[in-house]
Amino acid sequence: MLILGIAGSPRRNGNTEILLDEALASARQAGAEVEKIVLSTLNIAPCRGCGYCEKKGECIIKDDMQGIYEKIAAADAMIFASPNYFYHVSAYAKAAIDRSQALWARNHILKDPRFRQGKKGYFISVAATKGARLFKGSIWTMQYFFEAVGFKMAGRLLVRGVDGKGEILKEQQYLEAARKLGEEAAGK
Ligand SMILES: Cc1cc2nc3c(=O)[nH]c(=O)nc-3n(C[C@H](O)[C@H](O)[C@H](O)COP(=O)(O)O)c2cc1C
Repeated sequence: MLILGIAGSPRRNGNTEILLDEALASARQAGAEVEKIVLSTLNIAPCRGCGYCEKKGECIIKDDMQGIYEKIAAADAMIFASPNYFYHVSAYAKAAIDRSQALWARNHILKDPRFRQGKKGYFISVAATKGARLFKGSIWTMQYFFEAVGFKMAGRLLVRGVDGKGEILKEQQYLEAARKLGEEAAGK
C-alpha cells in the first residue's frame, strides 16, 4: 500500500503541510508506505495545451513532472494538500494538476490498459477566512483531477479561519482529523 502525499504550499511547514505530515505519519503507523512530494521545491512548468499528450500519452515538457506521473501511477492512494489561494488551490498545485492532462490522455484517449482507476484520493486545504463558498472551486478541480488520474474523492479536510504560519498546531481537532484521514487512506 503506497500513499503519495503532495504538498502544494510554497510556505514550508505551513498549515497544509503540517496537516499533510500528520496524515502521512498516521498512515505510516497504520502500515502504509508513504512518499511525499513538495511541489514548490520542484521545477514544474505550466501546461502548454499543445495536444502532444493526446497523441503520445506523455508530456512534451521534460521537467520534474515526469517523475510525478510515475509516482501517481504507482500510488494506491493520494493525499493532496494545498492552501486556499483566491478561492482555489495554489498556482504550484494548479500547474501540476494541469500537467496531469497527460495522464488523462493516457487513460481516456489512448485507453492504456495498465491504468488503474478508483484509487482513493483525499484533499486537504486551509483558508484564512470563513466564507461558505471558500472551497467550492477547489473541490470541483480536485474531484476532476482525481478522476482524470485514476482516483476518486474519498475524503477531504477543509479548514477555515487559520492564517498564520503553523497556527494549525493550536487546532487539535484538525490535527486529529488529519490523523484519521491518514488512517483511512491506509485502509484502517
Ligand atoms: C496568495 C495568497 C492568496 C490567498 N487567498 C486566500 C483566499 O482567497 N481566501 C482565504 O480565506 N485565504 C486566503 N489566503 C490565506 C491562506 O489560505 C492561509 O494563510 C493558509 O493558512 C495558508 O496555508 P499554508 O500555511 O499551508 O500555506 C491566501 C494566502 C496567500 C498567500
